[in-house]
Formats: sequence, structure tokens, C-alpha cells
Amino acid sequence: MTREKQSILAVRGRFLDITGVVESPSELDIRHFEDGLLLVKDGHIDGFGDWHEGKEKLPQNCAVQDHRGKLIVPGFIDTHIHYPQAEIIGAYGEQLLEWLNNYAFPAEKQYGDKSYAAEMADFFVGQLLRNGTTTALVFCTVHPESVDALFSAADKKNMRIIAGKVLMDRNAPKELLDTPETGYSESKKLIEKWHKKGRLLYAITPRFAPTSTSKQLEMAGKLKQEYPDTYLHTHLSENREEILWVKELFPERENYLDVYHHYGLTGSRSVFAHCLHLEDREWQCLQDTDSAIAFCPTSNLFLGSGLFNLHRARENNVKVGMATDVGGGTSFNMLQTLNEAYKVMQLQKQKFSAYEAFYLATLGGAKALSLDHLIGNFDVGKEADFVVLDPKATALQAKRTKKSRNIEDLLFSLIILGDDRNIAHTYVYGQLVHKREES
Ligand code: GUN
Ligand code: ZN
Repeated sequence: MTREKQSILAVRGRFLDITGVVESPSELDIRHFEDGLLLVKDGHIDGFGDWHEGKEKLPQNCAVQDHRGKLIVPGFIDTHIHYPQAEIIGAYGEQLLEWLNNYAFPAEKQYGDKSYAAEMADFFVGQLLRNGTTTALVFCTVHPESVDALFSAADKKNMRIIAGKVLMDRNAPKELLDTPETGYSESKKLIEKWHKKGRLLYAITPRFAPTSTSKQLEMAGKLKQEYPDTYLHTHLSENREEILWVKELFPERENYLDVYHHYGLTGSRSVFAHCLHLEDREWQCLQDTDSAIAFCPTSNLFLGSGLFNLHRARENNVKVGMATDVGGGTSFNMLQTLNEAYKVMQLQKQKFSAYEAFYLATLGGAKALSLDHLIGNFDVGKEADFVVLDPKATALQAKRTKKSRNIEDLLFSLIILGDDRNIAHTYVYGQLVHKREES
């Protein structure tokens, strides 16, 4: 498509987004147009409102993409996922530490091979888009080639991807180890090459405390100081055995999070995946440092890790985004991820409304990534990433949708019944990048 042709895009349909949090995340400002109009210019939202009010002002000969009968929402945001683990999704029978040794590490060894990494990065990006995910915070492997491959694949689609090379200098197979020095210098090169190139952003990525020495964490902290607007992405407090191991490896630190905090790795662009078994002081530290949590329900259930306490995160005012954590997680799809989140909450007798779920997968995720000035809803000026959901993708859904009482009920049924069949179209930066095959 030429730039000129792309310069004004008008989209008609039913729209839903969230504009903000009123009092607490259970009180959200919902914006809903039964018949709405979205204008996109040069990849950004140029207008948003009611169709009947906006149609008169449409530029002459402006083509309208008509998605009436569908529900158009902001692109989903996945705040924690591993691209080299796509091919080992759904591997049987282990908890975290055994699963890493038996499945994740062997798969990750392949990503030093440039052409293999390039093929898998393209596949991964395709999977995100067919699931309506337009932004993701992604683990690569220890190999710089894996990072080049992912950023190249994302850049071709103009996607906002945050990613980085894994730092890991102990307690893993030797083919997957770097050193404090090579981890530092390779990350630095990658930051210089990719950070802020187009929509791409870099995350300094120590895998988790058990696979980095103190020296490596210190070097990670040095990098973060040198490049304060990069991200810090790691795992925290996922599994009880992992936590005991961290206590053994870092007896001088007060708790698991204190290992990261000590090396300057907490902060408003730090994202910690899981956070299932936190002590009071760790909650306090997350709050004090404005760090964020990636909530990974399918992974937490699949690996038998535990139940995330979202109410506690709300009480402590800690930012939370939704995450698939593929391949510990069992789906790329955000609707399925929210479905499992709902059940995690039910098991703890915590309420989780459709709107709150939707918030966490869109604007809440954007806030967790400090990107809410750019993405997360349809505010004019933001980047035009959006998804056209088909609420009647299956015969059963068509029946259920007919009976939906209101937009919240429709959204809830989509979350509980939905999957990639519901993703009719995905747009990134105003361009159509995925269209569902018609069956
Ligand atoms: N902790 C350290 N590495 C990993 C990983 O690859 N997946 C998950 N779920 N947890 C981890
Ligand atoms: Zn993970």
C-alpha cells in the first residue's frame, strides 16, 4: 500500500475502549459507540466518535472500512512472553525448574542460528497478530542473533515490541551462558542498534536471579543507569522451590525482590513476571519503586505455580498488565488468557469484571509498560493499533451473542468463549496486518 493511499483511513463499527481509571481499577471510564467512526492518519488516531456526528466531516472520496456487526477494540498488550518457546508450548508434566531444564533450555539452544531465529521470529510475530496482540514485551535468548531476528520481524510490521537479549551466566547449559562482560557489551550494542528504532524498544533482560551472578546483576544495573529509558524485564517469585533457591544463592539479601532492587533493577520501566508468593516488603518495594507486574494466569496454572493476588496489587497500587508467558503459558490468545485469569480470581473469591479484564489487556497493560501516552485506547493522537473482534465466530457464540444483555455481557462471553477465531482483523499503525481466513 502506498503512503498516500494510507494517509486517511476511516473505520466504521461498534467500538469499545477504556479512557481511564476513576477511583480504583474496579471503577473504569468506559467509552462505547454502538455505531462509531475511527479516523487514522499516518499511523495515528486522527478522530474518534459517533458515526452520525463524524460522517459529515469525512474528507471527500475517503474510503470507509465497514466493520458493522463486529466489535473494535484497542490492540491487546502482552506484557511477558518468550518467543523462542513458541515451539515447546504445552509440554507435559513439570513444574518450573524441571520444565526449564527439560524443555525451555533445549529449545533456546537453537537460536544462535541466524536463519532459524529469523524463521521463528516471523512465525512468532504472525502468531501475535493472528491473536490480536499488537504490543508485547518479549524474552529472546542469550544469543544476540535472536534479538536481531525478532526486532527485524517486528519492524517489518511496524509493531511496538520491547525485547532484549537474555543475561544468564550460571546454572544453565553452557551453550546458553554469557559472562558479566559479554552480557554487558552485547546488550549495549543491541541497545545502540535497536532502542527507539521506529517503534522498537529495548529491555535489559536478566532471566531470573538464579541464573545470574551478583557481578552480572551489577553490570545489568550499570547498563540501566547508562540507558535509563530502556526497560528491565525479568521473573520474580513464581515457584516456591525457585524462591528457596534464591535465598540460598543470595543469603545477604532480605528477600527475592531485594536481589534486583539492590542492583538498581526496580523502577517505573521494570516489569516482573508472576509475583505469586511475595512478602509484604516486596509488595511495598514494588509500590515504592513504581515497578510493574506481568500477570500470567495460563502459565501459573499450567506449571502449578500458584494464584496471583490481583486484589493485593490493587490495594498496593502496583501496576499490572496481562501476559501469556508462552511457552510456560498455554495460549497466545488474550481472550483465553483473560478467561483463565477470571478462574484464578474465582478460586480466591475475588471479583474480576469483564471491564477490568479488558482494561488489563489494553490500557492497564500500556500503563504497566509506561506506554499509555502512545497506546492502550482510541484517544486522538495515539498510535492506531486495533483489533476487529467477531462475536459470532462460531455457531455457539452466535447464539450466546444474540442473548447478550448489554456490552459488558457480550464482552464477558467473548472472554470466556473466545480464541483466535474471534480475531477477524488486526491493524498495526493503521495498516491491516492480519485478516482471518474465512471458513
Ligand atoms: N523463570 C526463569 N525462566 C523462566 C521461563 O522461561 N519461564 C517461566 N515461566 N519462568 C521462568
Ligand atoms: Zn516467563
